[in-house]
Amino acid sequence: MPAPDVSDRSLTDLLSLRGRRALVTGGAKGIGLAAATRLAEAGAAVAIGDLDKGEAEEAAAGLGGEYAGLGVALDVTDTESVNTAVHRVRDELGGLEILVNNAGVFPITPLFDTTDEQWDKVLSTNLGGAFRCSREVGRVMAEAGNGGVIINLASTQAFRAGAGGLSAYTSSKGALVAFTQALAVELGAFGIRAVAVAPTVVDTPGVQANMPIFEAAGVGDLIAAISAQLPLGRAGVPDDVARVITFLASDLAVLVTGQTIVVDAGQLSA
Ligand SMILES: NC(=O)c1ccc[n+]([C@@H]2O[C@H](COP(=O)([O-])OP(=O)(O)OC[C@H]3O[C@@H](n4cnc5c(N)ncnc54)[C@H](O)[C@@H]3O)[C@@H](O)[C@H]2O)c1
Repeated sequence: MPAPDVSDRSLTDLLSLRGRRALVTGGAKGIGLAAATRLAEAGAAVAIGDLDKGEAEEAAAGLGGEYAGLGVALDVTDTESVNTAVHRVRDELGGLEILVNNAGVFPITPLFDTTDEQWDKVLSTNLGGAFRCSREVGRVMAEAGNGGVIINLASTQAFRAGAGGLSAYTSSKGALVAFTQALAVELGAFGIRAVAVAPTVVDTPGVQANMPIFEAAGVGDLIAAISAQLPLGRAGVPDDVARVITFLASDLAVLVTGQTIVVDAGQLSA
């Protein structure tokens, strides 16, 4: 299915996601919640999948937009949980054209202290989770025959391991960039695009949870420390990433696939 030529459509129409159905993994908070909120604002019907069903439902109920959000229990490390959630979302929303593989963990542990279990958990969530969700959602999209887009949350860590204690995380995000290219090649024939976004540090509940570690290591407030080094003068807020995700999900990006878009305030250029 060749990508459509959309040159004759207006910008407003191209940005609209009306009629599309989206699943955001790990969408109960942070970058995932911001992405779900913007996708709903652009007109999509949005489902949030997260570990705690109640938190997913509460976050989904708070989404604006035309449609009531749907919250589902989802553990991306578990194939049965993924497949059950994906089928429920497809059945309740009537289809699925947008997948945001956002669920991720980023524990900070020095290499010598990292156990096999810790390594496996990070890889199984950040990389394996994107694989499991893409496999099932990709199948649903291919069967429906309407194309779609898969958006993976990478990180600037994939390109520069600037901080210590993140060997598993950095490896998972580097592999996710490669996985995005593999998806683009294999799913292009179905009209399915695959892209990634690679943010610099973004102030989220997950980053705040790690703050005591940075303070103990003498870094102080990570957000302030990173902001001082960035050419654009500040770290990210979740909506900085959500707006780029919305662009990539839309028909404005109809010929963009396989690429990782860096949202880094200039970090990798400095
Ligand atoms: N915040 C940053 O600085 C930053 C920078 C670059 C990339 N990222 C990436 O963006 C994504 C979101 O990060 P965030 O900072 O918003 O995280 P966060 O910790 O604030 O939120 C992550 C969400 O994912 C959920 N989650 C965790 N494990 C899950 C699992 N197994 N199944 C389903 N849901 C699960 C959590 O419950 C939580 O709601 C992650 O992939 C992260 O690696 C974050």
